[in-house]
Amino acid sequence: MNYQNILSNTSNGITTITINRPNKLNALNRDTIQELHNAFDEANTSSATKVIIITGSGEKAFVAGADISEFADFDVKQGGKLAAKGQELLFDFVENLSTPVIAAVNGFALGGGLELAMACHFRIASTNAKMGLPEVSLGVIPGYGGTQRLPQLVGKGRAMEMVMTAGMIDVNQALEYGLVNHVTSEDELIPLAEKLAGKIMRNSSVAIKGAIKAINANYKDGVDGYKTEIKQFGKCFGTEDFKEGTTAFLEKRKADFPGK
Ligand code: COA
Repeated sequence: MNYQNILSNTSNGITTITINRPNKLNALNRDTIQELHNAFDEANTSSATKVIIITGSGEKAFVAGADISEFADFDVKQGGKLAAKGQELLFDFVENLSTPVIAAVNGFALGGGLELAMACHFRIASTNAKMGLPEVSLGVIPGYGGTQRLPQLVGKGRAMEMVMTAGMIDVNQALEYGLVNHVTSEDELIPLAEKLAGKIMRNSSVAIKGAIKAINANYKDGVDGYKTEIKQFGKCFGTEDFKEGTTAFLEKRKADFPGK
């Protein structure tokens, strides 16, 4: 597909999506959100993609937030619609993909940028990354899931402080908070993401799909995560991957999963 605001490249089972508006610090405008939706959807349904990595272009930013110039004159109705549409098209969409998504945070991840990173299945960051939800400094609150996902990841008190102060944290604090799993140099960020993707790809993609559903169920209102786990666990027993995984173990060889 032809994109104006992002790049998407697939090789060796990994689709790397790069938000490519470096002059605007990769701020998420309407078109970028739509293109990201299309690229994630395409990668998720492609048999060539086993893992998705998302990052930002340039040396400064992952994403410096939603594009402020686009919503500065919105009214109440438009504001509500902006959040609902964005959550549907991108943030909830990414969280619920069956293909693992790693955020490689390479600079500022602010507002919608941190919200996008938090919607991914996990995050790694380079030493120059800075993270925060500065929305209240603009007179608004996080609207792309930030008030929900930040406390899930770092705990309520830390989330309250980050949101109320509108401050930024560095990677050491993000690591301590559990907001990112690993920190590395700028040069090593994508290689590390690819190394983690390689480890993921050795395992059963159908089992991983079930695990994503079960883990996400813990955070959904009115959904019993334990019941979801039981259902997904049972489903595994009907898959070719399960036959291959258990047979390979008993035959003392490495499994070669068909992904079915
Ligand atoms: N929306 C729209 N444009 C943005 C943007 C955003 N969220 N973040 C950065 N930009 C644009 C700037 O307007 C500037 O454009 P210009 O060169 O046409 O004037 C360009 O990106 C570079 O940003 P600049 O502010 O000059 O870089 P900086 O290094 O001085 O500061 C930041 C970096 C991240 C501290 C600063 O850009 C910033 O505070 N951005 C907004 C962060 C935010 O509040 N995000 C939440 C939005 S809800």
